[in-house]
Amino acid sequence: MKARFGLRAKFIALIVAGLTVLFAAIATYTIRITTENLRKSLVNESKSFAAFATKPIGDTFVLYKDSGTIRIEQQIDKFADLNNSINDIKIVDIEGKKQFHRGSENGFDPTPEQSSSFEVVYAYDGADLTHIIYPYIEDFGAHRYSIVYTVSYDAIDASIRQLTTGIVILATAALAASILVSYFVINKFFLKPLGLVSRAAINISRGNLGLKVESPNNDEIGDLAKSVNTMADALKADINKLKEVDAMKSEFMMIASHNLRTPLTAIQGYLDNLLSTGQLSPEVRETLQVVAASGNRLNTFAEDILTVSRLEGGEKVMGERSPADLNKLLDSVAKDFTALAKEKKLVFSADLGVNACMVVMSAPHVRAAIWNLLDNALKFTKQGTINLRLQTEAQYARITISDTGAGISPEEIPKLFTKFHRGTSTMEYNYEGTGIGLYITKLIIEQHGGIIKVDSKLGTGTTVTLRLPLTPSSV
Ligand SMILES: Nc1ncnc2c1ncn2[C@@H]1O[C@H](COP(=O)(O)OP(=O)(O)O)[C@@H](O)[C@H]1O
Ligand SMILES: [Mg+2]
Repeated sequence: MKARFGLRAKFIALIVAGLTVLFAAIATYTIRITTENLRKSLVNESKSFAAFATKPIGDTFVLYKDSGTIRIEQQIDKFADLNNSINDIKIVDIEGKKQFHRGSENGFDPTPEQSSSFEVVYAYDGADLTHIIYPYIEDFGAHRYSIVYTVSYDAIDASIRQLTTGIVILATAALAASILVSYFVINKFFLKPLGLVSRAAINISRGNLGLKVESPNNDEIGDLAKSVNTMADALKADINKLKEVDAMKSEFMMIASHNLRTPLTAIQGYLDNLLSTGQLSPEVRETLQVVAASGNRLNTFAEDILTVSRLEGGEKVMGERSPADLNKLLDSVAKDFTALAKEKKLVFSADLGVNACMVVMSAPHVRAAIWNLLDNALKFTKQGTINLRLQTEAQYARITISDTGAGISPEEIPKLFTKFHRGTSTMEYNYEGTGIGLYITKLIIEQHGGIIKVDSKLGTGTTVTLRLPLTPSSV
């Protein structure tokens, strides 16, 4: 069975995906804004630091630059100790050339433009460092040097890492909690009531039309439940109406065919009497014979309709079944049929074997079924042979009726067994019939637990095979 991706799974996937995206977006945004703010305030802080450190550092440098570096270093260290984000201080002239340097190995080399500026210049070095180039103005207004402070973000990065870890842990916990809560809510208010309605609908669709869906919610799902109930009621009403109509139809068919048969039997009786008196002129006799033939046809039709309405009624008609010898039955059918075949100058043979072949059956029905098939063979065969054969095969009796007649086209074969279907390929024969014979035959065979099959080739002939289950004792 193919795995089913049900509503429950879809909802879980949706909640997980949606909330994950939401939490990821919020976390990313928070971390970015915080980082930016922290960096901004660090730079501001460093700028204030530079504002107050530049003058004393510059003064010390100018005073001691020719006599030794110790005092300058001491002065710079004194200030650097005050701010641990500044890890590098460099004094440059206005061409950007290094005059004094305290800190990491190379430091930052500003351009002449940056170092000669009277304004504070910020130089961003990739993502990790910002350099503040602060002009040093001497007491008498000269600007010969600038001081470069390098601000490191290391301290911020550590707190951002801490923040990120915190947010990830919190977000994961919140995500798990939200998924649980949303699942609980969706399950309680949607999935469970929907499941209830859907199971009831499935039950109803299986024919349990009396079932009522209990409306669990007073919302759209409740409406759905109500609609399912209304639908089931409507279906039940329709089905009952159809059953009534069907019963009426069957009854009508029964009455109509019965009422046709009764007067027909009387007419045929009088006709037979008239024909057997022998005091008729040849013209009258011929006319009466035509009337008798037409009456016969009408009688057969009425008989067929009666049979159909009885068979469609099911078991009660076919109830009187008993084990009978199929061999004997076929033998008697063959005797009756031989005369008809001879009349049409066809060769008829029956290979019935000798053994008794016991089948539980309603003999008159099985006889009628086989007679229908032989009748077709006779009707649709102009010349050649008709064969009736009985064999046994495992637990089945197999009867085949084959002819060398008109045959049936392949697209015609599946339609043969429908009620009142008459083949088109045999139209040229101008045969009599109503197209009900094979339908009745199939009904009879199937009600006996048997199978019917037609093999045919247009222009070559037809073979109909019947299989009827043998009584267990004769298998
Ligand atoms: N032995 C056969 N040879 C050729 N066609 C056949 C044969 N048996 C049945 N058919 C086709 O099947 C159709 C249905 O047969 P059936 O139900 O007995 O109706 P009917 O005999 O009244 O026409 C026939 O009209 C005919 O076209
Ligand atoms: Mg027929």
